[in-house]
Amino acid sequence: MCGIIGYVGKKQAFPILLTGLKRLEYRGYDSYGFSIFDEKGGIFLNKKVGKISEAEKDFLGMDIQGTVGQAHTRWATTGKVTEANAHPHFDCAKEIFVVHNGIIENYGELKNKLINEGHQFSSETDTEVLAHLIEKFLKEKNKKGEKRKLEEAVKEALKLVKGTYGLLVMSKSEPEKIVAARLSSPLLIGVNNGEYIVASDPIAIAPFASNIVYLNDYEIAVITPGNLSLEKERAPEKMEYESEEAEKGSYEHFMLKEIMEEPAAIESAIKGRLISQDGEVKLGGLDSIAGRIKDIQNLILVACGTANYAARTGKYMFEEYAGISAETDLASEFRYRKPILSKNTAAIFISQSGETADTLAALREMKRKGVLTIGVTNAIGSSQSRETDAGVYIRSGSEIAVASTKAFIGQLTALALMSVYFGRKREMAMVMGKRIVDELSVLPDLAQKVLKNSSHIEQIAKKYVLAGEGKGFRNFWFIGRKYNYPVAMEGALKLKECSYLHAEGIAGGELKHGSLALIDEQFPTVAICPSDSVYEKMVSNIEEVRARKGRILAIATEGNEEIKKLAEDVIYIPKTLEMLTPILAAIPLHLLAYYMATALGRDVDRPRNLAKSVTVE
Ligand code: AGP
Ligand code: GLU
Repeated sequence: MCGIIGYVGKKQAFPILLTGLKRLEYRGYDSYGFSIFDEKGGIFLNKKVGKISEAEKDFLGMDIQGTVGQAHTRWATTGKVTEANAHPHFDCAKEIFVVHNGIIENYGELKNKLINEGHQFSSETDTEVLAHLIEKFLKEKNKKGEKRKLEEAVKEALKLVKGTYGLLVMSKSEPEKIVAARLSSPLLIGVNNGEYIVASDPIAIAPFASNIVYLNDYEIAVITPGNLSLEKERAPEKMEYESEEAEKGSYEHFMLKEIMEEPAAIESAIKGRLISQDGEVKLGGLDSIAGRIKDIQNLILVACGTANYAARTGKYMFEEYAGISAETDLASEFRYRKPILSKNTAAIFISQSGETADTLAALREMKRKGVLTIGVTNAIGSSQSRETDAGVYIRSGSEIAVASTKAFIGQLTALALMSVYFGRKREMAMVMGKRIVDELSVLPDLAQKVLKNSSHIEQIAKKYVLAGEGKGFRNFWFIGRKYNYPVAMEGALKLKECSYLHAEGIAGGELKHGSLALIDEQFPTVAICPSDSVYEKMVSNIEEVRARKGRILAIATEGNEEIKKLAEDVIYIPKTLEMLTPILAAIPLHLLAYYMATALGRDVDRPRNLAKSVTVE
């Protein structure tokens, strides 16, 4: 989902902007562009459709001068994917250049008004109205009859805007300046000895600065050589981001690297948080609200995509182990509901990036209503982590592949920890807490055992891609029950988003209510059926599928010999507590999706049409 980077300093801007833009590629984009002012009043303006890496050779022969510049990767929301619609956008006189993440919701009326005032537009985008608005306010004098500074014109322009923005503005009239502004779309400023790298994601800043200033909503920053002027002055803080995490290392894809890091994701999520002798869990990020936990009567867990499936699993955990009524909702739906809230309601928001627009909008709605808000987040310092009343970092490390894998595992682990943290402040006995804590402590080793099956899973994946009459199966059911029903949905989403094959995750009990009609030899079913409280029911569902000649791939518990008679293929996972089986069951499904997608030659780290962090609604 789009990206922004700007530089003001003593070095040549282009190499820094190019490096930063390439590190932002993982977020997904369709076009890109640069604008750099040189010392002679000229500008390097270059924008293209396509991938930066494909154009890098073209830049080699260019002498691109200038120490003030900005660059952008676009994920189109308004206007086709064309060179004209790529950013930077400019005003009539090509004096003002803007790059923008977000959506200007009232751009239509603003554009019509500006056209009536004589402005000439050169793109279909919403963003371009910003350049013309700033042009308009720069031309007009301020209330004291003086010429406005660039930042004053930006401020006046943004007063008219409805929508979201992470915005950088440059003007030939003040060539040593970048004005940055933020509303809902992240912007942070790396500070390094009088040089400034402003970007939408710490990954772009990490190679150049280790101290950072987070821009707040409605804040405008003015960046000039050696000076950063903020409306609310504050010292930079240490950036919690290790750039080496963003490297692929020996792996062919980030997605495989991140799946292989899933045991480590569990390990880092539990590290320092298990107190076995008391059957307790330590979560410092929740201590500020610890006194309120026993009064919570209902929980709403809100998230999007894979994080929503973690939320759905967490619902079962909180109900069974914390004794709290819990419901879940998609963030994009939740904010249009009229949920029945009370002073004893708490809302948990789950997000890997902490910047998902739908989730943030739902969070802000709950805060407006005075509901206690708790975040489960991976990205440190992200909007979600800063806006919730309390929260838990899952500590999975940077997740680069668009498909969320280790973060899902980290989210489930954090929710399991939280169900103990909540439970032990309510009715949960020490013995039960200890049982869960002790099982969590060995979970990383159990997860490592699952990964040892990866070559077996790769064989199954290739078989499914190449089997079937039409060279591979095109449709898949994923079925599960109770804790593993959300895992069925997660497995289906991973397969869809990585391989572009159709898959659907449903509750095993739902098959007979209509979905069974689709089953035949060309429509295989992945059945998540660990030896748990609903295993017998899952066996009945598997029999229903087999009776219609459906083929079964079973995810089952080690030692279960019976399942071999029912399923064509079996992937075993170690035995663990029922509430923790989703963490182990998801790992083979992530690998299955990865291997099927790579067998089909897909761009698994950056699947078509998708973005890593969906910062637009
Ligand atoms: C999952 O693989 C997808 N990339 C997507 O569904 C993702 O989970 C969703 O956009 C939520 O992202 P978040 O966790 O950063 O909020
Ligand atoms: N809404 C703008 C456009 O469509 C910006 C999209 C983005 O965030 O990349 O160009």
